[in-house]
Amino acid sequence: MKVRNIDIDFSTANIFWTPETPEFAQFWNATSTFLPYLEPFLNQAVREGMGTLSSDGSDDQLRDDCRIFMAQEGQHYRNHEKFNKKLRESGYPQLSDREAVMKADYDRYQEKKSLRFRLAYAEGFETLGPILACYFLEAARELQDPTVDDPTADLWRWHLAEEYEHRHVCNYLFHRLYPPHWYRVFGIVYAGRHMLTYMFRTAAYLLREDRRAGQIDDPWRSRLRLVGVGGRMLSYALPRLFKSALPSYDPIKIPPPARSMDVLERAETLWPRKRGKPTNPA
Ligand SMILES: [Fe+2]
Ligand SMILES: [Fe+2]
Repeated sequence: MKVRNIDIDFSTANIFWTPETPEFAQFWNATSTFLPYLEPFLNQAVREGMGTLSSDGSDDQLRDDCRIFMAQEGQHYRNHEKFNKKLRESGYPQLSDREAVMKADYDRYQEKKSLRFRLAYAEGFETLGPILACYFLEAARELQDPTVDDPTADLWRWHLAEEYEHRHVCNYLFHRLYPPHWYRVFGIVYAGRHMLTYMFRTAAYLLREDRRAGQIDDPWRSRLRLVGVGGRMLSYALPRLFKSALPSYDPIKIPPPARSMDVLERAETLWPRKRGKPTNPA
């Protein structure tokens, strides 16, 4: 695990970065829109959890991993923020209001919910992370298309490869602080429902605007493609998510997605943060 200082230039990015299947791109674009609220929330929970670890040396490795986790998440949401700005400037007048609902949810959780709840939520998201990484990097047929070459595809490949890389951090921290297993399952169900509902509803909204603006020709074919995109992803992710809720789950044992190290090297080569450009602390 390491921190990569990435700064992607989205000036040439297309909103439909999978041109043959705009519905796939809009699903991930919708997902991008709430990450600048989710990932700082995860970092806050990990920071607070890390502060309760033992100082006798036995938790030093976990503490170091927590620090890298927070720095990686900080890199992720700053790059998503840049992409999201481009998305908002491309139309979609209700998008800010939709994002505000998620921001208000995370603000409320931060203010009112226990650290156990917030870390269980974080672990719910982080359990989905390596599953989506394997789906995106190995299985999604929309990405096998040779016309997919876009900074936004690079953003997601790099982000998800790092989600795979730090997959164990929230899990180990949660189990270190809150050993009973059932509450982790609650976190997976709660976070999964909360996030997936937003992702699918927001994707449907973006596509409605695209159809209204004449960006997508055949509305029924588009709706069918969206059902295909969602159905293929859920049929890949849900059985793996159920399996990962078992007490025997250990994220460190998940085999790496194909080409994940190549993806990470490519991100560092193509999109390094230029010297002198400031990075805010995570
Ligand atoms: Fe992330
Ligand atoms: Fe993560």
